[in-house]
Amino acid sequence: MLEQSRRVAVFSGAGLSAESGVATFRDPGPDALWSRFDPTELASPEGFAADPERVVAWYNWRRGRLAAVQPNPAHRALAAQTRLIQITQNVDSLLEQAGASADRVYHLHGSIMRDRCHNAACDHVETVDLRNPPPLRPCPRCGAYLRPAVVWFGEALPQDVWRQAESLCRQLDCLLVVGTSATVYPAAGLIEIARAAGSRVVVVDPNPGVAGGQADLALAGAAGDVLPALLEGLDLDSGS
Ligand code: APR
Repeated sequence: MLEQSRRVAVFSGAGLSAESGVATFRDPGPDALWSRFDPTELASPEGFAADPERVVAWYNWRRGRLAAVQPNPAHRALAAQTRLIQITQNVDSLLEQAGASADRVYHLHGSIMRDRCHNAACDHVETVDLRNPPPLRPCPRCGAYLRPAVVWFGEALPQDVWRQAESLCRQLDCLLVVGTSATVYPAAGLIEIARAAGSRVVVVDPNPGVAGGQADLALAGAAGDVLPALLEGLDLDSGS
């Protein structure tokens, strides 16, 4: 199906980074983040307003864990497809660390590698050292708090990135969906958008779940096992 597809893109989620040791959000079992932590407290503007120090400390804890991990075979297999566009919900930079060119990775939910000013009218942004992330501090430009440059529940996605992803998903022959529960919108809506535009959908996930229900083919396995075998010898293109 991939060989017959002129235009292919990838839509990924936390499962892509699971084999690198990065916790997913909703997997069964004790490690999933949202079974250990409350997203309304830690990943919402309300939670930040209530206790900004706690929120920044939690993201810095995640940054410390990310500093200790490496891309896995799934990241490397995807990055090797240099003409592919990677649409990802992940805020880590493991695809880029695996060699994917930054302009071909669309981060729908932002990046944990940066802080930005919480004041919507101020566009101050800073790169953060994962090994030594700074605590809560004011923006040097406007004095409002700096916060992780990720998209919290109730916040809009970066519109330029969303428009690019949506427009691409309307022009595909095949969308490869990797490691997402496909339950968080508007990102999960890209699968429906692609299908409605005539694209095939291939899902790679040990528990295909919701995304599996929208798939032409569901490969029920770990991305680190399936993707190297699936993509070997292919030269896929997103056509843009
Ligand atoms: N390979 C492939 N898929 C995997 C693997 C693996 N090794 N391990 C787990 N998965 C799958 C799970 O079966 C599940 O379908 O990855 C998916 C992870 O789902 P979630 O934890 O819900 O993560 P995601 O879909 O990325 O969450 C979407 O929710 O919390 C917000 O902003 C956050 O971007 C995130 C969004």
